[in-house]
Parts: sequence; C-alpha cells; structure tokens
Amino acid sequence: MKELQIQLNVSVLTLDELSAADRELVERAKGMTRTSYSPYSHFSVGAALRLADNRIFCGSNQENAAFPIGMCAERTAFFYAQATAPDTAPVAIAIAAFTGGSFLKQPISPCGACRQALLEAETRYKQPIRVILYGEETIYVVDSMRSLLPLTFDGSEME
Ligand code: THU
Repeated sequence: MKELQIQLNVSVLTLDELSAADRELVERAKGMTRTSYSPYSHFSVGAALRLADNRIFCGSNQENAAFPIGMCAERTAFFYAQATAPDTAPVAIAIAAFTGGSFLKQPISPCGACRQALLEAETRYKQPIRVILYGEETIYVVDSMRSLLPLTFDGSEME
C-alpha cells in the first residue's frame, strides 16, 4: 500500500499583520454579521468577497424555518457577485462569525458546500481565491479554496 500525503499551508496571523486590503475585507465581513437572519442557530456569519477589479460583494447567512433552504454567508456573497459581475474573477474572501455576544475567538471555516461552490469559480476563472478566516484571537489565511478541498471534484473528470 502507498500513502498519499496532502499538505495544507495555513498562515496564522493577527489583524494588524494583514495587508490593508485584506483588513478591509475582514472589517466588511464582520460588519455583515449584523445583517444575518439567523433566528434558529443564533450564529451570525458575514462574508466579503473581493473581485479582480477590487469591487467588494458581501453577504450574510439567511435562515428559514425549513432549515435546509437557508443559505450560508459565503454563497450569498459569491452568488451576488457572480450575478452582478459575471465576467470578473473573485480573488479573496473573508469570513467572520458572531455568536453569544462576540466574534468567535478562533477562525470560522467555510462548510463543504461553500468550498465546492467557490472552487468552481477558481476553475472557471483560472484564478485562486485567497481565503481569510477571521477569529478575534487568530486569523488563518489559505492561498486557495482548492487547498481547503483536497481531492476535488471540479468537473474536469466529465470532459
Ligand atoms: N454558516 C455560514 O453562513 N457560513 C459558514 O461558514 C458556516 C455556517 C451558517 C449556516 C447557518 O445559518 C449557521 O451558520 C449555522 O450553521
């Protein structure tokens, strides 16, 4: 038997170590938690997505009494961006979560469905999306969605 080792490089930073552009994205994601509709989970998530032309599109999680039809913050921002600027690649996304009266101390990580959705944009535009996962104490930065979703299904198998 052989074993395949898959490596994930995560930069561990504080807010003041981020570039001004990434810090702005984090602040926008934090602000967006205030627009979350999350009466069921009481877990408010905000996302801010930067496009290649520097426009920023934001989203928050939107829940529903029929639980599965709710939408995560990341995909809300991503679909909004794509529906408005279908020819412009996303280049970075910041995510923040607020619950119980404060932001999470440790970084919030996107769910599998959001990773898959954003991976499609990386494939489509041939451009990695930097992922900035905000926590009050620690921030993680990963160079691409693909890194967060190893052994991906990106549709190339169907060609
Ligand atoms: N949620 C997001 O919006 N993004 C994430 O990265 C994780 C989870 C939302 C979905 C649901 O409204 C709530 O957080 C609890 O899972």
